[in-house]
Amino acid sequence: MPRDPIVARSLPALREALNVFRAANDSVALVPTMGALHEGHLGLVREARRRCKRVAVSVFVNPTQFAPHEDFDSYPRTWDTDLAKLATENVDLVWNPGVKTMYPDGFASRIVTEGPATVDLEDRFRPHFFGGVATVVGKLFIQCRPDVAVFGEKDYQQLRVVTQMARDLDLGVEVAGLATVRESDGLAMSSRNVYLSPQERAIAPLLHRTMQETAEALRAGGDMATTLAAGAGRISAAGFALDYFEARHAETLQPIASLKDGPVRLLVAAKIGTTRLIDNIGV
Ligand code: PAJ
Repeated sequence: MPRDPIVARSLPALREALNVFRAANDSVALVPTMGALHEGHLGLVREARRRCKRVAVSVFVNPTQFAPHEDFDSYPRTWDTDLAKLATENVDLVWNPGVKTMYPDGFASRIVTEGPATVDLEDRFRPHFFGGVATVVGKLFIQCRPDVAVFGEKDYQQLRVVTQMARDLDLGVEVAGLATVRESDGLAMSSRNVYLSPQERAIAPLLHRTMQETAEALRAGGDMATTLAAGAGRISAAGFALDYFEARHAETLQPIASLKDGPVRLLVAAKIGTTRLIDNIGV
């Protein structure tokens, strides 16, 4: 029988629930989300369950990580089905603050990240993004004080930024990454996939396929610049507006010239119609 999670919407309610877990000496894992939950999010919840006695999931569409021209207002909000899914996973606590609870009137502080947050990937196309993410994730870590927090490799630069921030600020949280959960045709699951028209949805898996082909060609000894340029050409020819398709060092996210220079990650971001998709794989 699924057990209904405790839903906290105020800081006192959150603290009360967490105090019960702490009093029992239970370890706590946090899964931060913006809701519109899919199997990728639920994979994180299951990983959290494997690692800790108690699982908390935050559901908060964070306005500060959206630029004015982005999709904050239209971002999918599916609270009832989200809560039902979390109940099925036996989640213990759902932290669902309102915007004024997270950012009360007069809120005036911000976490500024460097290193993996300033490498000319997502930060180049969404300059406001990591400031918003780091500030809200920093607040979530301080509010919930989890032992572990689970993030998806789907948002690979975000995972690196949050890992660096937790370490730099001594937040005492172990940041764990989980492999990207995909549809059967390879498309990375994303809350934004609902924006895709049937035609766009049919083209979208080409991103993952191209990354796989590029990784194979690189492993076979292909020249980095030529192989990436060929992949970028295939993505553009399929109708995407490409933001970037790059090979980077998997930890620092710095540019890399050859497979010999470290573990390599391929990262891509491209728009199909009005929907921007991102994905990445290890080589
Ligand atoms: P959101 O896009 O809801 O994603 C929440 C978490 O789910 C992130 O760690 C993301 O990487 C992970 N995730 C999304 N799709 C996935 C997939 N297909 N496979 C595995 N994991 C996947 O990322 C955010 O929210 C926000 O930026 C947040 C961290 C909550 C801060 O507001």
